[in-house]
Amino acid sequence: MSYKAKFRVWRGEGGEGRLEDYTVEVNEGEVVLDVLHRLQATQAPDLAVRWNCKAGKCGSCAMEINGKPRLGCMTRMSTFSEDETITVTPMRTFPVIKDLVTDVSFNYEKARQIPSFTPPKDVKPGEMRMQQVDVDRSQEFRKCIECFMCNNVCHVIRDHEENKPHFAGPRFLMRIAELDMHPYDVEDRKDLAQDVHGLGFCNITKCCTEVCPEHIKITDNALIPMKERVVDRRYDPLVWLGSKIFRR
Ligand code: SF4
Ligand code: F3S
Ligand code: FES
Repeated sequence: MSYKAKFRVWRGEGGEGRLEDYTVEVNEGEVVLDVLHRLQATQAPDLAVRWNCKAGKCGSCAMEINGKPRLGCMTRMSTFSEDETITVTPMRTFPVIKDLVTDVSFNYEKARQIPSFTPPKDVKPGEMRMQQVDVDRSQEFRKCIECFMCNNVCHVIRDHEENKPHFAGPRFLMRIAELDMHPYDVEDRKDLAQDVHGLGFCNITKCCTEVCPEHIKITDNALIPMKERVVDRRYDPLVWLGSKIFRR
């Protein structure tokens, strides 16, 4: 069964733009991205919208739908009533290139600043043995599809451009936590998390966890344990003293 939906879509580039109203056909079983593609095909051929897999696995189609970060390809039209106006805007935390497409290079810059997995030098390939619990922990974090909706929604940078140089966002604090908790990683990542990547800015609002399309428990399983590891290091006098002596 088809119907006509009311869409309000952000159009613009170079920091200038406006919301424009469209009426677009919707067919049974469609998602928001289908409707945006129909809009492109029939009324707005120059509408910029990024997508790739259409299966919720590439993270490209992240946008804000009625003010909430969502994947366009995984947001079913059946979740809205037929008379509702659906507002689609680009992710707010990153600069707009055109229409719904944002420049997410902030995230790649942060990724490059994190030292990669560093195993001990004397362990050869094939010699690593891990407990299942350690494997499971990494597996959860590695479900990340890098949609960057968690970074987009975190208030530390969403409303405060000035914090961006000092805060990697939940996606990359989770990456640091994953490596810090890895039994074979020897890099010291606690000071990096706290002093360079702004773990202390996170006040556990859990908005990141709420929007994650992979349902990763970012706050409970990565950020809070990482905060505890930093606190153990910094505020336990024996641990602190040990870290000073043995790091020399
Ligand atoms: Fe997206 Fe979740 Fe990865 Fe954040 S942690 S980038 S919300 S998949
Ligand atoms: Fe931001 Fe998530 Fe912390 S939204 S404040 S990183 S719990
Ligand atoms: Fe790949 Fe939506 S197009 S996640």
